Amino acid sequence: MKAAILRALNQELEIRDDVELADVGPGEVRVKVVSSGVCHSDVSAQNGTIPTGLPCVLGHEGAGVIEEVGPGVDEVAPGDPVIISFTPACRRCRACLRGQSYLCEMAMSMMTTPHFRLGGQPLPGFTGCGTFAEELIVPEAAVVKVDPDIPLNVVSLIGCGVTTGVGAAINTAGIRPGSSVAVFGCGGVGISAIQGARIAGAAEILAVDLLDSKLEMARRFGATHTCTPDALPQLSQEITGGEGFDYALECIGNPTTIRATYDAVRRGGTAVIVGVGRLDQKVEFSAFELFYADKTLRGSMYGSANVRTFMPQLLRLWKQGKLDLEGMVSRRIKLDEVNDAFRAMLEGEVIRSVIDFAA
Ligand code: APR
Ligand code: ZN
Repeated sequence: MKAAILRALNQELEIRDDVELADVGPGEVRVKVVSSGVCHSDVSAQNGTIPTGLPCVLGHEGAGVIEEVGPGVDEVAPGDPVIISFTPACRRCRACLRGQSYLCEMAMSMMTTPHFRLGGQPLPGFTGCGTFAEELIVPEAAVVKVDPDIPLNVVSLIGCGVTTGVGAAINTAGIRPGSSVAVFGCGGVGISAIQGARIAGAAEILAVDLLDSKLEMARRFGATHTCTPDALPQLSQEITGGEGFDYALECIGNPTTIRATYDAVRRGGTAVIVGVGRLDQKVEFSAFELFYADKTLRGSMYGSANVRTFMPQLLRLWKQGKLDLEGMVSRRIKLDEVNDAFRAMLEGEVIRSVIDFAA
């Protein structure tokens, strides 16, 4: 079958048509991928920001149909439509039992088995998935079954960006109706955070991005104000009277904007770091300000979402026209065009490119 492989850091993906899959093991499922979004975390794997074993099949934001189930799998069956969850939700570990499946302790052990084969050699998928492939194998714990009427070429973005961004606004930040929100970065994750803030009833939503094209898109998804980073003090003055925002969400993964996100929040407000920066990058805070500002500074893993309840909620919001997924898909492409989709993302031409495997 066809798959896009990252062989070494900073190299283009190699599209091959001779990739194979291992046998489906106990507790595992084989999924025919219908569509996969191209997320910045795939680019971050390519440039080394997110460490991953190489070579690997990239892609972690996908939806598809169950083709085959291994021994012991009883919650999904062949033919079931699913969204792939790049973090398993095993429902047995301490994190899952606490209601924090986004921190599932089985992530490491369950998502590290290489299921692809190339020239007889095992080949892993990024984050244990590898949605840039026509088919993949994941543990049953890493799929969320959806209703049969859900169009899988629309909902693949829920596999990462939408759950991450909407979840960061609703679950992690806990945005309250009538509040003021600033969102840094208007890619797929930031646009989702803006939609989450809108759904949560924020009064003002300021979108911050370097690119005017992205700011224009942000308005279509609910941003009430937009600015480039240099104009932030002026907009904060206009929107909050200079006090700072109730909430700010960083959806870029950059130490400078992480610091700016903390600074954008009022005393007692909440700053949420959604973007993924490099392991060796540092952000500086004064020991005094952390105490004095009384701010909440929180990371957000997978939108602090319990995927089995949150993904169905997102689908219901979408069905009621309250969450725009179609509008986030800037381009529908073939797997062969994935390198171009990376470039289009880095140049700010798209919110999301989506690979349609059925096309
Ligand atoms: N200031 C403001 N905006 C910036 C800056 C900056 N210094 N640097 C980048 N941006 C904007 C880009 O113009 C782009 O619109 O941030 C946006 C990032 O969007 P994408 O590249 O589409 O990334 P996305 O898929 O949304 O992921 C964002 O979340 O899950 C993580 O790993 C992911 O760290 C990444 C982040
Ligand atoms: Zn992602």
